[in-house]
Amino acid sequence: MQLDDEHKRILDGGRGKILQAALTDLFKYGKAMGADRFIPITSAHTSFMPMARMAACFPPRRVRLTREDVDRFTREMAGLRVPVKTSINPGVLDMEKWQRMGADQETYDAVIEADGIARGCGILPTYSCTPYISENIPIQGETCAWAETSACLYANSMLGARSNRESFETALYSAFLGITPNFGMHLDENRKGTHLIDVRCEIDGISDWGALGFFTGEKVGLGIPVFNRLRRPTVEEAKQLAICINVPGSTTLFHIPGVTPEATTLEAAFGENAPRETFVFDEEAKQATYAKLNHEPEGKVDLVFLGCPHATLYEIKEVCRLLEGRRVARGTALWVMTSHATRAAACRAGYGRIIEESGGELFADGCLGMYYLYYPLERPALGRVATNAGKQAFTVRRSFGSNVFFGDEKRCIDIAVQGGN
Ligand code: F3S
Repeated sequence: MQLDDEHKRILDGGRGKILQAALTDLFKYGKAMGADRFIPITSAHTSFMPMARMAACFPPRRVRLTREDVDRFTREMAGLRVPVKTSINPGVLDMEKWQRMGADQETYDAVIEADGIARGCGILPTYSCTPYISENIPIQGETCAWAETSACLYANSMLGARSNRESFETALYSAFLGITPNFGMHLDENRKGTHLIDVRCEIDGISDWGALGFFTGEKVGLGIPVFNRLRRPTVEEAKQLAICINVPGSTTLFHIPGVTPEATTLEAAFGENAPRETFVFDEEAKQATYAKLNHEPEGKVDLVFLGCPHATLYEIKEVCRLLEGRRVARGTALWVMTSHATRAAACRAGYGRIIEESGGELFADGCLGMYYLYYPLERPALGRVATNAGKQAFTVRRSFGSNVFFGDEKRCIDIAVQGGN
């Protein structure tokens, strides 16, 4: 893999230990993936977490880092600047309403410290898994290094950007170095369809798009699905499709002919490739997918969760339309998750007040998955959860053994008001 003089200087430690460690790993990664060289990026999307976790992301990796190790790392990172537009994924908690989430002071302090470092480095403090909606919107052909499985898939498939599905670490290294290894989605020949998904039923509502995504991910794995007969999705539908494909699957690009910028037709989506396999998504397949994500459809519900990926302003407006004038049942929590930028707009529009007056919560900056899995803070009971988000339906079941109702937002809000179904 070719290196220029600046790369060599960084590898020799000429720009400090953090960049040396970052480039060492990025070089190994590129070599392993068959890249011939590094290419410049203009956009990165990664995560920025409490500093002890950040320090652990850079080699040499140690099982235990001392307070001195973390402090040394923090001081050095504070002196760095990202050379490209860099946004960050949801973190652990809501930075304004952290106590309402049950977070403790120690975790809050660690998040605020990291937030200060991130801002100092020039990172946009977006804390959202939907950067493509407002803060970091790549255009067709733009070279990116994005982590966050649904965001990367959305950027490639809906916007025509070019990014491999980076880990949080490799995207972070790229953010600080301004480069990424040239392989995979950066090369034209790797962006053609491999599998055909023939859609032969009505796709109606967010959870149907999630079910289609889940079905597709199960079938194509690492392949590139091309959807036949699929109508043009809204942003909200497309983000649900993107997140759910990569619950069972691991793909970086899908084509919807006529929607995906480089796939104007079915033929253009496949290019020289013949589909390796065709899978039909019909009513029977849809119901079978719902059955996989639903467990014990009747009974009391502890938590109704909406906003994975983070809810758009329009989705929040819809929640309010369904909720206004009603009250969330005692013993049931209603959480809607979004970015702080969207929450600010929602509060300005009066939506935040409607949700809170109904007994629900509009949380920002965080992610239910991060919050539950990595920081075992106080939280609502999870015995039974209702959600319109396929990823959460799968994750809370797998991680906590929850019984899940998976269905559209209208049913979810009815469940929140009735306390169950
Ligand atoms: Fe976003 Fe967290 Fe869901 S990062 S996609 S809200 S699991």
